[in-house]
Amino acid sequence: MEKITSAQLGQRLESGEDFIVLDVRDKGSYDRAHIEGIGGLEALNIPYSDVNEKIISEKIPKDKEVMVVCYKGISAASIAKRLNKLGHNVSLLDEGMESWFEFVDQKTVVEESDLTIYQFVRTSRGCLSYVVVSDGEAIVIDPLRNVDPYVRSIKDLKLKFVIDTHAHADHISGGAKLAKQFNVPYYLHPYDGIHPMDVLPANMDYEPSWEDKIYSFGRANLRAIHIPGHTLGNMALLLNGKYLFSGDSIFLSSVSRPDLGGKADTWTALHYASLQKLLKLPEATLILPAHFSSLDEQNDNRQFCQTLDHLKKSNEGLVMAQKSLKKFSEYILSNLRKAPPEYIDIKRVNIGLMHVDETKAQELESGKNICAIK
Ligand SMILES: [Fe+2]
Ligand SMILES: [Fe+2]
Repeated sequence: MEKITSAQLGQRLESGEDFIVLDVRDKGSYDRAHIEGIGGLEALNIPYSDVNEKIISEKIPKDKEVMVVCYKGISAASIAKRLNKLGHNVSLLDEGMESWFEFVDQKTVVEESDLTIYQFVRTSRGCLSYVVVSDGEAIVIDPLRNVDPYVRSIKDLKLKFVIDTHAHADHISGGAKLAKQFNVPYYLHPYDGIHPMDVLPANMDYEPSWEDKIYSFGRANLRAIHIPGHTLGNMALLLNGKYLFSGDSIFLSSVSRPDLGGKADTWTALHYASLQKLLKLPEATLILPAHFSSLDEQNDNRQFCQTLDHLKKSNEGLVMAQKSLKKFSEYILSNLRKAPPEYIDIKRVNIGLMHVDETKAQELESGKNICAIK
């Protein structure tokens, strides 16, 4: 029986292969996050103890490959054996969802003579982060908790600094850790150095980021644009005047939510004003966001980016932002989803107000990101 690695699963999902994913974890774990693909492909959940021949014959056709997944790959292996005996074409996700949740893919999205942008895709959670390289120098934007992929990527380069577009709520940042490891500055806007719920200042070192601050590395420059709304210290970063790391502001089919500080009404107006700033950028600006919500958002090169002029027409949140504050507010406030309670603790971790071990960190990050409206 074929064992599929997380990297192979990522490739197969991106390319739109047709197969069945059978997730034998309990329903609660499945509901928090499960494997999703293109065109509505979604794992089928039959918890381990419910699997029997009747349910198999009812729910699992024999004409398609069935990939069985569980937490670590152990209970899935025993279900896979049973399916195999019944004549199914079976494969197994090696090391299970634990491996899938941590899997990060590296893509090259821009390659110019003196500039390369790598996009790091954590497919299971829809998180995007970036390494930008110019003339032997590198920077890292919005790194995730596991910093190994960035360390590998910058191996023969000089890391200049690390920057978070904002204090994240959906995942634990690797920003401060990576900066410390390489003894370089870690930048964050000081407004995000205060926890919005606790109203306590950060208990960690960071260098302040601010409106119009210019960062230089290699032959490239990065201009910081303060865009409060999703958070008070939210930033977008414009590289060489044409690539915008939009963080959590403009995504590919929607915009970020303004309610995670508990003040949705007032922050929606700030969010609207900030989006007006970004809408004034040149139409050809390439938007490189910090999240995607579905693999259907990838472009023809399987990257998660799009030009501003395209998004002005196709992105529902951005379409509303071009109408009026009233229409935008109605759209945002009527589409808000419940904020996950763990987001408050993740923000505490990200500014040093709380410390967690690896097990707790994985638990806090166990759901899919819901940083976007819809
Ligand atoms: Fe965010
Ligand atoms: Fe986010």
